[in-house]
Amino acid sequence: MMHLALSLTCALALVTGALAVPSQHLDTRQQPFKSTAITDFAEPWAFAFLPDNRILVTERRGNLRIVDPTTKSKGTITGVPAVAYSGQGGLHDIALHPQYAENSIVYISYAESGSGGAGGAVARAKLTLTASGGALSDLVVIWRHSQRASGGLQYALRLLFGPDGTLWISSGEINQMTPAQSMTTNLGKVIRLYDNGTAFAGNPFASQGGVQAQIWSLGHRNPLGIDWDAQGRLWEVEMGPMGGDELNLIQSGANYGWPLVCEGKHYDGRTIPKHSTRPDFNAPKAFWVPVISPAGLIIYKGSLFSSWKGNAIITGLSSQSIVRATISGDTAQEAQRISMGKRMRGIREDKDGAIWVIEDGAGGRLLKLTPN
Ligand SMILES: *[C@@H]1O[C@H](CO)[C@@H](O)[C@H](O)[C@H]1NC(C)=O
Repeated sequence: MMHLALSLTCALALVTGALAVPSQHLDTRQQPFKSTAITDFAEPWAFAFLPDNRILVTERRGNLRIVDPTTKSKGTITGVPAVAYSGQGGLHDIALHPQYAENSIVYISYAESGSGGAGGAVARAKLTLTASGGALSDLVVIWRHSQRASGGLQYALRLLFGPDGTLWISSGEINQMTPAQSMTTNLGKVIRLYDNGTAFAGNPFASQGGVQAQIWSLGHRNPLGIDWDAQGRLWEVEMGPMGGDELNLIQSGANYGWPLVCEGKHYDGRTIPKHSTRPDFNAPKAFWVPVISPAGLIIYKGSLFSSWKGNAIITGLSSQSIVRATISGDTAQEAQRISMGKRMRGIREDKDGAIWVIEDGAGGRLLKLTPN
C-alpha cells in the first residue's frame, strides 16, 4: 500500500512537472543544496533575522513568533494589532529598522478591516525581547491602502529598506484592477517613504502631494517580492492572473501596465493586450506562462552559492519551486527551477550567504539551504 502510494505520488509529480515546466528547467536528479528544517509554523508568511541570531516569523492569523534556530525553541511576540485574516490577507511582512540595533524598531504589514472591507496597513513598533519571546509596544500605523475592498485578495505588502534608509512597500491592487493605473490611489504601486511614513521627497510625483507623493512606480498587480541588486537597482516579482507572472526592473515614475497589458489572461478566459502593444509601459524582464506564482524574491549577494551571485531567486507557490533567473545588464532569464514539493512563501539570505525559505500553509516549515 505504501509502495503504491509512493509510486502514484512520483508518477503525478512527473506528469505535473512535464506539463508545467519546460524540460530544460527541471533538475530531476537532486536539489542543488542541503535543506535543514528548523521548525514549523501555522501559515507562515515572512521572517526576519535578529542580531542575536533568532528569527522573527509572521503567521497569517496575526501571530508573531520568534524561533531560535539552534535550539529550535519557539516563542511569541505579543502586541500585534487585530488583522483581517481572510482570503490571502492577514499578518504579512516583517522588517527591522536599519538602525534596529540602536532603536529596537520593527515594521509589520498586514490586512485590516474597516468600512468598505479590508485594506493593507504598515505599522512600526518597538520590540522588547525576552529569553523566550517578547512584546511590541508604541505601535503606530504609518501607511494605509487608500481604498478597501471585500474579497481579501492581492494585498502584497512586502517591506524593504533601501541603502539610504528609506522604506519601500510593494502595494497590491487588492483585486480592484483599474486603481493600479490611478494616481489618486496607492493601490497597485511601489511606494517609497521615510522611516516615519512621510513620502520620500525624491519621489517622481512628490510635488503633486497627497497619495501621489508616495508613488515610485505604478501599474502593478500583486507585487509580492522586492530586492536590490549589487548596483542598487530594485527588482520586483508580481503575480499575474492566468499566466503573466513578471520579474520587473523598477524605475522611478515608470508604469508597468496592469491591467491594460499583461502576458496572461483573465481568469474567465478574456484576453488582455500584450506588453508589445503598449511600448510606453515597462515590459517585464522575464515572464511566466503558465504561472510560477512568485511569492518572494532575493537578488543573491553572498558567496556561499558562488555561481548564483547576482541571480534572482524566487519562491513559487503553485509551482512548488524555487526559481533561479540570471540577470545580465537589464535582461533576465529563468535558468533553473528547483522542485521543493511544497508551496514556497518567503525567502531571505543571511549574513553568511545561506538562503532561508519558508513554506506556505498549515505546518509550513522554515528551511535553511546551504550548498551540497
Ligand atoms: C519624517 O522624516 C523625514 C526625513 O527624516 C523628515 O524630513 C520629516 O520631517 C519627518 N516627518 C515627521 C512628521 O516627523
